[in-house]
Amino acid sequence: MTDTLTPVLTANWDQPDSFTLDGYKRTGGYQALPKALAMAPDDVIAAVKAGSLRGRGGAGFPTGMKWSFIPQNDGKPHYLTVNADESEPGTCKDVPLMMANPHVLIEGAIITCYAIRASHAFIYVRGEVLHTIRRLQLAAAQAYEAGYLGKNILGSGFDLELIVHAGAGAYICGEETALLTSLEGYRGLPRNRPPFPAVEGLYASPTVINNVESISSVPSIIANGSDWFADLGTEKSKGYGIFSLSGHVKTPGQYEAPLGITLRELLELSGGMRGGRRLKFWTAGGSSAGILTDEHLDMPMDFESVAAAGSGLGTRSVQIFDETTCVVGAVLRWTEFYQHESCGKCTPCREGTFWLVRLLDRLEHGQGTDGDIEKMLDVCDNITGRAFCALGDSATPPITSAVHYFRDEFIQHHKEGGCPFDPAASTLWGDS
Ligand SMILES: Cc1cc2nc3c(=O)[nH]c(=O)nc-3n(C[C@H](O)[C@H](O)[C@H](O)COP(=O)(O)O)c2cc1C
Ligand code: SF4
Repeated sequence: MTDTLTPVLTANWDQPDSFTLDGYKRTGGYQALPKALAMAPDDVIAAVKAGSLRGRGGAGFPTGMKWSFIPQNDGKPHYLTVNADESEPGTCKDVPLMMANPHVLIEGAIITCYAIRASHAFIYVRGEVLHTIRRLQLAAAQAYEAGYLGKNILGSGFDLELIVHAGAGAYICGEETALLTSLEGYRGLPRNRPPFPAVEGLYASPTVINNVESISSVPSIIANGSDWFADLGTEKSKGYGIFSLSGHVKTPGQYEAPLGITLRELLELSGGMRGGRRLKFWTAGGSSAGILTDEHLDMPMDFESVAAAGSGLGTRSVQIFDETTCVVGAVLRWTEFYQHESCGKCTPCREGTFWLVRLLDRLEHGQGTDGDIEKMLDVCDNITGRAFCALGDSATPPITSAVHYFRDEFIQHHKEGGCPFDPAASTLWGDS
């Protein structure tokens, strides 16, 4: 069973010095870089395209295609911005990756900048993860000292400056245009698109924005070849990815596997449900995608299959909830997050998330009315597709999917005057 896993980015995590330059090099690190520098930049882009790497930050946009949108010979500076603002509930892959293996991200960033002809790269990290920021700063300093960053990298004539930038801690700053605005020193609010960042991004210059895991996957494609990468995964979702398991599972953590692995397989690898309890609901792609149930245990976790099931692969944050969990309470908690993180720029999201929390809260506490479920769905309908950015759209699938699968539980809360679940039973310190 364990050969279902494909440790690449996580391969050296159990080494005590995995985060150092020596530790990374000992396990094959910085071998892709000279190979890439010996190629023409366009050939590097072609290799990533041929590997069919799709963005690991949520939307699954083809990475090589994104790079090829950067206009060439335009006389403008080009930038790479690595999105390391990871903060969606349940999403926990980029921070552990940067903690354990920051050099793979730096090597990927250097190769990417070479391909898109950028001489400045920024890693925009969520401000709260100070320990991770320190790791990245140390790794960047080591890379400069070893000649992987700075002027004339490995004698190739290619120059690159890398800046580790700490954000102030706002979920909206993970939205790519808000990230750029924040990086420029303004309040992190989303911008209109078009113009897209590839044309007018950071400081109004062509900019590639990619997720930490997307950029970190690049060295393995260059080192092992596009075919190696494309042979992993499913027909349209190639390669491997980190699946972060949390919640009511015996051994939570990061499991790196080919796209298309099923929850049943992941549960076998992680020791199963805690206390042998029944799976009630789960997310395949974080709180922004709709919840799924035990009828989806054998669904391949690739972009297409999860979308066909009405949810999304997102960031592969697999949050697992057993039968002790109140679905209304869980959805309320997520919705409180979206209300708190709404930047307030547009009315549907700012007002809608406020009212969704009020409705869910009174249902959870037995003060709801007969019409609350329909009212909630109506508010969701008025946010979806009408919000300025994807944060608003992300707030509604947990609610609509929960009502779809567990409408009776919502009604029960209302009819029985409150939540029928014992909150202590669903805590993680209960039993395992
Ligand atoms: C509210 C919001 C938060 C986001 N947060 C992140 C994040 O923390 N990290 C990330 O890589 N992408 C995040 N995204 C997606 C980015 O906008 C963007 O699609 C992604 O960084 C592109 O990288 P990729 O093509 O490598 O996936 C977020 C999107 C939204 C709407
Ligand atoms: S949907 Fe509107 S209010 Fe919500 S975060 Fe985006 S821009 Fe801000």
